[in-house]
Amino acid sequence: MTAEIYHVLRSDQFDRPFLNDLFDITNKLRQISRTKRGADYLQTLMSNKRAMLYFTQPSTRTFLSFMNACQILGIKTSEIRDPHTSSEMKGETVEDAIRTFSSYVDLIIMRSPRAGLADRIANLLDETPRRVPIINGGSGRDEHPTQALLDIYTLRRSFGKTGGDIDNKKIAMVGDVQRGRTVRSLSHLMRHFENAQIYFVSPDSLKIADDLREYLKNEGVEFHETTNFEEVIPEADAIYMTRIQDEHDTAGESKHIDYSKYHFTHDHLKILKKDAIIMHPLPRRQEIDVKVDADPRAKYWRQERNGMWTRVALIAKMFNLHKDITEPYGV
Ligand code: CP
Repeated sequence: MTAEIYHVLRSDQFDRPFLNDLFDITNKLRQISRTKRGADYLQTLMSNKRAMLYFTQPSTRTFLSFMNACQILGIKTSEIRDPHTSSEMKGETVEDAIRTFSSYVDLIIMRSPRAGLADRIANLLDETPRRVPIINGGSGRDEHPTQALLDIYTLRRSFGKTGGDIDNKKIAMVGDVQRGRTVRSLSHLMRHFENAQIYFVSPDSLKIADDLREYLKNEGVEFHETTNFEEVIPEADAIYMTRIQDEHDTAGESKHIDYSKYHFTHDHLKILKKDAIIMHPLPRRQEIDVKVDADPRAKYWRQERNGMWTRVALIAKMFNLHKDITEPYGV
């Protein structure tokens, strides 16, 4: 068993034992859910709990995978996806709005365009008599910790079904590595793997931010920065594609960037290692040719499904249901 985590706010909260544990719970959950009896059992585990999904920034995967993760565990959910439908329109602060959710539910899962908001809300709730856990489902440009968990799970599962390791692997993160929060959160976790190397591949104007560069140097993670994608493809064990994050433009600057050099084409499959994998947090635009989808090395659709199971495991772990899953009674 690993140290318990109350709020999930940033990926640097997770240590390697936590990742190992989550990997095992996720696999066990998938196994239990294969039978109706098992799936019914899982639904009893948290049938006395309620969760709020407060997603005020667009989301398909994170929202739906958390919603379905809750359903798998029997958690009842409520949601706000558009702040225009909440009393924030009457001048209520976001702090008061989220504190209100804590009056009704046992868990708050939130996505916001504002960096650091989840941290602030967690600190606020910690000082109230109705403290409930917060899960950050993506906050501005800074963090997407649960995406990093599912990315690690996908890497490990793809490198070997029982937990093939990320040690000694070369991971290429491609595209807008400056503003992509999934890249930041996943990069933070690379410190847990021996001799893992990151190749950041991007246009000059979208290179990683100084704080991430400093973080990786301080943590002793080997990384390289380049603009040349085709040079990196044959070297990589995993290619992590990302879309341009133009929602963070201040004056339409993305329009002036030639992003086509950071697209994975069907021809690139010829120079990719036979056992390498292609990932993408999705949604995609043109970063990966749809013809690549049929190649067995393309793992991004599995990756999004892994997201649901990883999130089931995370919630179960946060509520200390580890034993009910690894040693289920009568299933
Ligand atoms: N990967 C991800 O966060 O996708 P959504 O924006 O659709 O939730």
